[in-house]
Amino acid sequence: MTDAIDFDRYDRIRPIRWTGDSLELLDQRKLPFVVEYVRCDDSDAVAAAIHALTVRGAPAIGIAAAWGVVLAARTVDAADGAQAVALLEPAMQRLNAARPTAVNLAWALARMRRVLAAAGSDWRAVLEREAQAIAEEDLAANRRMGALGAALITPGSGVLTHCNTGSLATAGFGTALGVIRAGVAEGRIDKVYAGETRPWLQGARLTVWELQQDGIVPTLIADSAASHLMKTGEVQWVVVGADRICANGDTANKIGTYQLAIAARHHGLKFMVVAPSSTVDMDTPSGDAIHIEERDPGELFGVGGVRTAAQDVGAWNPVFDVTPHELIDAIVTERGVIERPDAAAMKAAFGD
Ligand code: MRU
Repeated sequence: MTDAIDFDRYDRIRPIRWTGDSLELLDQRKLPFVVEYVRCDDSDAVAAAIHALTVRGAPAIGIAAAWGVVLAARTVDAADGAQAVALLEPAMQRLNAARPTAVNLAWALARMRRVLAAAGSDWRAVLEREAQAIAEEDLAANRRMGALGAALITPGSGVLTHCNTGSLATAGFGTALGVIRAGVAEGRIDKVYAGETRPWLQGARLTVWELQQDGIVPTLIADSAASHLMKTGEVQWVVVGADRICANGDTANKIGTYQLAIAARHHGLKFMVVAPSSTVDMDTPSGDAIHIEERDPGELFGVGGVRTAAQDVGAWNPVFDVTPHELIDAIVTERGVIERPDAAAMKAAFGD
């Protein structure tokens, strides 16, 4: 059982640290070669860090934004929360604009706004408690999803994951990587394959490093090797995270996820999406309505600062894609497992 997991062994990395007067972010641009926290003293520094991917991963950017509001609160004078809401709105808008696809960012800011509006003269303390609660609830959700997701996996299985969905992308333990941690600890997962995740290399740089901290030995593959891997029979599940899950179960995640889902279905593999309920957006009816972030085409021109593309080429760099719900076998949230998700199943689980 996952309850038996030694969390100290399997859950040591913390990408976001609140010191009491500033926010420290583990700089994910530099991992795995440099392990260094950067300090943010104001909300615009947090917004810039989210935009630059210093902190990344859907739940983590929501948590960082919540602390960004706490920092912004130091710059305004207000008698109560209702007054503070209006004064803090510009800073919250800038935090919200830092990245468009992961709904956790808007979700966390809406939650901060809600408690603030109802707060009295102690509104600063209320904000700080809420940011702390958002982080703690995320960690608890991840541990719960680890147990629920791992239980779906037959002992002796191999899994393929994409991007980084671990402690680095959350308050700790991770979503899809939490399921993998739990599955390895329970002896259900024998082999873990991680796709490189071009162009930013979240898989090669972050997931591999993170699993190594736990003593889990992943096998790295080129993204383009995924279908071939599936054909060998070495993997039974593809396990990924999500940036936004729509009302019909369509799911946005890191670019390349969609093609993994298509290939998994072709080869008879199961496809699992693991995300906290803060990633569910019942106001977005389907994947067609999701704003897909496009980043600097320059990310495609080289690796580690060394140019690999021929000169004078244009590039298109969408960094997320949408997996249609028909290709998903299970969505795992802390509230439970939704098998073969569709609009009716999502409404039953999240229609409240
Ligand atoms: O661009 P990124 O690195 O923020 O993208 C992250 C992903 O796509 C993750 O799979 C997703 O946010 C889930 S993280 C638990």
